[in-house]
Amino acid sequence: MKIGFFDSGIGGLTVLKKVIKNYGNNEYYYFGDTLRVPYGSKPQEVLVEILEGIFDFFENLNVDILISACNTTDSLVKMGLVKVENRKFKYVSIIDNGINQIEKGEKVLLLATKNTVNSGSYRNGLIKKGIKQINEKACPLFVPLVEEGYWYGPMADSIVKNYLKDYENKFDKVILGCTHYPILKKHILKRLNATIIDPADGVIKELNTKYLLFSNKKVPKVNFYITGNVEQFKFLSKRFLKKTYYNSSYYKLDL
Ligand code: SIN
Repeated sequence: MKIGFFDSGIGGLTVLKKVIKNYGNNEYYYFGDTLRVPYGSKPQEVLVEILEGIFDFFENLNVDILISACNTTDSLVKMGLVKVENRKFKYVSIIDNGINQIEKGEKVLLLATKNTVNSGSYRNGLIKKGIKQINEKACPLFVPLVEEGYWYGPMADSIVKNYLKDYENKFDKVILGCTHYPILKKHILKRLNATIIDPADGVIKELNTKYLLFSNKKVPKVNFYITGNVEQFKFLSKRFLKKTYYNSSYYKLDL
């Protein structure tokens, strides 16, 4: 099967890594928009145009499944600003897979970009499920921190501490509502005494139950299409993906 992923940068690798570890025997395509990162505070109309372009790109590649590895743009789909119904691929929502991991009665904290928080996509979905205690916190410095490769050490620790200082010990579950955030999980866990929810774990389940993908440990071929600096992306992706990085090709995509 041909499976696509997209994100503003390297955050979507957190989803890709889990998927390829589980389901090795597919062809994978990853779109990383490092020229236009971050998406989290860009105007909605700009993002709508970007997302339509991404959907056209994957339609031309004839992917069977397109996994939204970006919460900010998935929120445009949730709001009905970009349609997926008439596209040729099946679309997997990262936000739905975050919401699905929350149970009634749980106290929830959502960490996400400003655009994702402001869209209300998580909040509305959680309310629909009967979840009443919802807090949201936008952490706009997390994405540039990760894109610059500083996901370790005192700088990452102090930025995470600063954003989360008022949220310690108050929640059952914390949703990492931006795919860059799992890269900072170690620092987040240090500050919050709660179960961390990575929506990508729900994506793994959905690929099995809905699309019948089965476990296969083969290291697959991944084609990366990058709009910004390919060498920088290659360097960071190699560092993050470790052995799942092998067998990859990188292409510069001119917009
Ligand atoms: C961003 O580019 O600001 C992050 C996108 C996301 O929500 O994953």
